[in-house]
Amino acid sequence: MAYENIKTKNRDGILWLTIGRPKVLNALNDQTITEIGSAFANARNDDSVRAVIVTGSGDKAFVAGADINELAKMTPIVGKFTSEKGQSVFLQIERFPKVVIAAINGFALGGGCELAMACHIRIASDRAQLGLPEVSLGIIPGYGGTQRMTRLLGKARAFELICSGDRISAMDAEKIGLVNKVVPPEQLIAAAEEMARKIMVRSPMAVRAAIEAINSGSDMPFEEGQVLESTLFGLLCASEDMREGMAAFLEKRQPKFPGK
Ligand code: COA
Repeated sequence: MAYENIKTKNRDGILWLTIGRPKVLNALNDQTITEIGSAFANARNDDSVRAVIVTGSGDKAFVAGADINELAKMTPIVGKFTSEKGQSVFLQIERFPKVVIAAINGFALGGGCELAMACHIRIASDRAQLGLPEVSLGIIPGYGGTQRMTRLLGKARAFELICSGDRISAMDAEKIGLVNKVVPPEQLIAAAEEMARKIMVRSPMAVRAAIEAINSGSDMPFEEGQVLESTLFGLLCASEDMREGMAAFLEKRQPKFPGK
């Protein structure tokens, strides 16, 4: 599919996915959500993609939310379908079997904050601001934000941020664990790439299993999560990656993981 609202480029194994609607601060309209879903679906089984970095075009916004021009016209039925579609695309990102990093280059509000939360790791420019301002528009976050923020930060922070609609700085977001790292704007791309490459040299099979254990396990009772963990652990013992990782350690060399 030819994309109108996003750009994708594979640079040495990292798929850079850039939301490209700078005139509306990269707001997510229906077409953009479709394109993001399609890009992740294509990248899922593309072995040349080893990690994804999501960012926004321009220097002002990552994504300033769902497109309010579209939201303003929604009927209840369209509203429900729109929410379900965004939820399903963002779940696809969260469950993506290779690491997904958000490089937050500016405003990450509403759907933009929800998109960032669906990524596995968030690195922000010190100029970025994050928040879920939906209550100031008479709605609530509809792309998984009420659920993901509560799981990421706990109920106390989620109540405060979602019910106030406040925007917070990247530095405050780092303090509460909403972003992993804050860097000056000119270092953002390099910092996101460094994080991706650090993970890309690890075993792809192990990283995939870790993503599944963290994602699925965090929605299970502890003991069931441990069952999942031991099952994935056992499965990895059948992988070529495991044999290579152990052999490389014992032979005092760097591993070359086949990803099988
Ligand atoms: N949907 C549609 N258009 C949006 C948008 C959104 N979520 N966010 C920004 N835009 C548009 C603005 O309408 C404006 O368009 P215009 O140039 O035709 O007037 C353009 O992007 C630039 O935004 P502007 O508001 O002029 O920039 P600013 O620097 O003064 O403020 C924000 C930046 C992000 C604080 C402000 O745009 C904002 O509050 N946006 C909405 C955030 C939001 O509520 N998101 C949740 C939606 S559910």
